[in-house]
Order: sequence, then structure tokens, then C-alpha cells
Amino acid sequence: MLDVNDMHAYYGKSHILQGVTMNIQEGEIVALLGRNGVGRSTTCKSIMGEVEPHGSVKFKGEEIAGRKAFEIANLGIGYVPENRDIFPGLTTRQNLILGLKPGQKDGAGRWSMQDMFNMFENLERRADVEASVLSGGEQQMLTMCRTLMGDPDLVMIDEPTEGLSPQMVQRVAQLLKEISKRKISTLLVEQKLSIAMDIADRVYVMGHGQVVFEGTPQELRDREDVRKEWLEV
Ligand SMILES: Nc1ncnc2c1ncn2[C@@H]1O[C@H](COP(=O)(O)OP(=O)(O)O)[C@@H](O)[C@H]1O
Ligand SMILES: [Mg+2]
Repeated sequence: MLDVNDMHAYYGKSHILQGVTMNIQEGEIVALLGRNGVGRSTTCKSIMGEVEPHGSVKFKGEEIAGRKAFEIANLGIGYVPENRDIFPGLTTRQNLILGLKPGQKDGAGRWSMQDMFNMFENLERRADVEASVLSGGEQQMLTMCRTLMGDPDLVMIDEPTEGLSPQMVQRVAQLLKEISKRKISTLLVEQKLSIAMDIADRVYVMGHGQVVFEGTPQELRDREDVRKEWLEV
């Protein structure tokens, strides 16, 4: 589904990504873990074309490095950035509609607005009120649901559990499992091991702009040295 090969990225003269190589198969949940500042968000932005990637990014076999972000979105990559960027003055329902691709009708893709309301009754209850009144957790759900409305084949979700209550973290985990059931691939960016170890099929650990470990959650559990050097604070 996604094949990233020797990807580099820069902010001005700072060489941030230094040869990132990773892949995600269909329906797979892949976690991208690492401490703050190692380049996880930059990896997502580079795949998405918001930061210019150097190297190869292939999506469904097609080279997308150098394409514009809206083209990449239309090809089927959904991106949920770490700041929950809802449109606060619009209603929950209007926010969801904004997730549809140009010309796409609600219900034409794998997810309908009613699916979202069935999964998250809080969103249904507040369908017609301004999104600004939603709690932090509800705003996180809304951002994820809005991205799914565009019917992506791959979603990249940046730190979805940050600042959420344990109960909301479980809701996020449930949604990620549902995404995987519908054969959608997921790149889950997290700092803590938390839900990643329970739901990911595979894990990449990043340090200083490179992948420093790749394996299954069990393999990471067995590597105390990797966790100590690259994950624990
Ligand atoms: N817009 C930017 N301009 C300059 N430097 C940035 C910018 N965004 C991130 N950085 C730097 O790039 C590095 C990687 O950041 P980021 O990808 O956000 O890390 P992570 O998501 O893993 O916390 C950090 O050193 C950060 O300070
Ligand atoms: Mg980040």
C-alpha cells in the first residue's frame, strides 16, 4: 500500500529526516513510535506532500513524492494531524461533510455519516451544535471521523491519544480496529507504547530522523535496550 524508501526532509538548512524507509501493507496497523522531536510528524507531512520529500514515496505502486497534498489526499491518503483542527464555528455535521472528497456523496464510500454517529453517540447528540463546544476527546473523534468520510485507503493519525482520558483512549483503539477491519491501512504515530503495543501489527521506532528498530510489538517487548535508548524518558 505504502512504500517509503530513503526519504529525506529539510526545514531550511536543518536536515530532519535522514533516510526513512518503511512500508505498510493493506489493512495493516503500523505504529511509528519515538520521543518528541525525532521526526515522526515530519514523516507524515513528507508522505502527505506538506513538506517536500526527497527520495521515494510509493502509494499503491505509484510514485507520489513531489505531488501536491490535495492530489495525494485524492489518491486515498487521509491525514489526521496532531493539532485537532476542527472548524470550531461549524457544526459537527458540517465538519463531517467537509471530509468528503470533491464530488463525493455521503454514503458512497466505506463510511457514512450515520456510521460515525452509530460509533460515537456523543457526535450524533451534538450533530447540529458548533464543534467548539465538544470536549477535547470528542474533537479528536470528530477529526478522525472527518478524515474517514473521505474514504481513504490509508490513514495517518498523529498522536490521537495525547491528552485523552483512559476511557477515550479505549474508544480510539476501538475505532482503529474498526478501520483495520474495513481493510484500510493505518500509520499510528505515538510517543507512548500505550495502545500501539495492543493493536499494531508492526512497529517502527524512530530516533534522530531515522528508523532505529522495526519489528512486531512482541519483538519490541523483548528488546529492553531499544526501549531504554529510544523510548523511555
Ligand atoms: N516547521 C518547522 N520548522 C523548523 N523546524 C521544525 C519544524 N517542525 C518541526 N521542526 C523540527 O524538526 C524536528 C522533528 O520534528 P517533528 O517531526 O515534529 O517530531 P515529532 O513529531 O517526532 O515530535 C524537531 O527538531 C523540530 O524542532
Ligand atoms: Mg509530532
